[in-house]
Amino acid sequence: MSRSITIAKAGLPPGPKGTLIGGNISQIGPRRVDFFLDLARTYGSIASFRAGRWRLFLVSDPELIQQVLVTDARHYIKHFGARAFKPILGNGLVTSEGDFWLSQRRLMQPAFLKAQVLSYAPIMAELANAMVSKWSPGQAVDLEYEFSVLTSAIALKTLFGLDDQGDHEGVYRSLMEAFDLLTIRLDATFTLPISFPTPANIKIRRAVARVIDLIDDFIARGRSRPLGNDLLSTMIMAQREDGSRMTDQQLRDEAMTLYLAGYETTALTLTWSWYLLSQHPSAERKLADEWARVLGGRTPTANDLAALPYTSAVINEAMRLYPPVYAIGREATTDLELGGYRVKRGYTILMSQWVSHRDPKYFPDPERFLPERWLDGLTTRLPKFAYYPFGGGQRLCIGSHFATMEAAIVLAAVGQKYRFTIAPDAVIDIKPQITLPPKYGMPATLELR
Ligand code: HEM
Repeated sequence: MSRSITIAKAGLPPGPKGTLIGGNISQIGPRRVDFFLDLARTYGSIASFRAGRWRLFLVSDPELIQQVLVTDARHYIKHFGARAFKPILGNGLVTSEGDFWLSQRRLMQPAFLKAQVLSYAPIMAELANAMVSKWSPGQAVDLEYEFSVLTSAIALKTLFGLDDQGDHEGVYRSLMEAFDLLTIRLDATFTLPISFPTPANIKIRRAVARVIDLIDDFIARGRSRPLGNDLLSTMIMAQREDGSRMTDQQLRDEAMTLYLAGYETTALTLTWSWYLLSQHPSAERKLADEWARVLGGRTPTANDLAALPYTSAVINEAMRLYPPVYAIGREATTDLELGGYRVKRGYTILMSQWVSHRDPKYFPDPERFLPERWLDGLTTRLPKFAYYPFGGGQRLCIGSHFATMEAAIVLAAVGQKYRFTIAPDAVIDIKPQITLPPKYGMPATLELR
């Protein structure tokens, strides 16, 4: 049955002129978030552009975003950008669709409820303390690398019950390479299927195979232990209403997805938080005062979090300015209406946290790092999709409680002992991939607090 839709505006939403073949691809550039921001500021809350064969709308009005992610969610699937990472993520929660996704989400949801996640707080604090005990004052580190080692260790322990890191350096480097190569592929005007043995495809397949081997080893070791309080055990035991459980392949894809979706995003939240704090000493002083008052030097627990509002505000503000996931996309599976325009089947709707989080209507002086803006109930006053670092609607990040608790505990555990000076000559820039890492890392010197 065809759906009847009312279209008030003819043609496409406004947008920049492009070339016949590539469309606007040459204007997008490696700092694609600048292109998105320009687009929204020039053409308004719904703008249109083309990348090769893909027609995209960039939507930055909270109500329109809500329409895509909530009201019309059943008429959209993940867009080509998310699908491009399927070679690594498999058919796990991030990339799966339809009934299969829903059944997996229902099976996994209980493991991520707040009460269950709270039980991981001691592991997070203990591993943060262990990292700090290996540091020494004056040492030069790359904060992004340090925090990725830590959040990976936390993920391995809470997900798979593993105490040793295995070859983290190997996972980290191979993953960076695979994400780099997949991003380059995504940016190309034309690509051959990944199975086609071009030199670029062969490189991608090798990098992806290395990541998969390394992480499969974590999963295999996690599975060979007796069941425990880790997420993998919970998933192994989880049963559907009809009594069925996940197959080995499903467990593998979900475990891979949780590990990859969870550890780097949280490492980036911590890295950008410390970067911003290093540039704003008065905010850092307020944070240190809060810790001194509430914790007095002891290790933070889950029960302390409600008494650390400035810590939460810093994390919110860091994810506002440097959202670890800076854009999400959906592809229409049928003809639809959005903002008065026709969205044809196959069109992609992009929603960019980088853009929305800089809207002066909701965040006055948007480029300014101002944790205070979160202290007087801003979260309850904002429209639902003005601030959405974890997405929203049915595909809301399953790890949002896990990540916010981890970021707060690690920030307080580490920050009570050390502060960080970013090298004055360091070039700090972003490298938008599927996430938003610093382009040249985050070189810092450790100082005792
Ligand atoms: C600060 C850290 C994190 C950020 C910013 C973040 C962000 C996001 C966003 C924006 C989405 C929605 C994607 C979309 O709608 O297309 C998402 C989905 C997801 N995230 Fe996170 N995430 C974080 C941490 C985590 C953690 C710690 C885990 C797991 C332990 C996790 C697991 C997932 C999964 C499985 C999905 C897919 C959910 C579904 O579609 O059912 N994330 N995340």
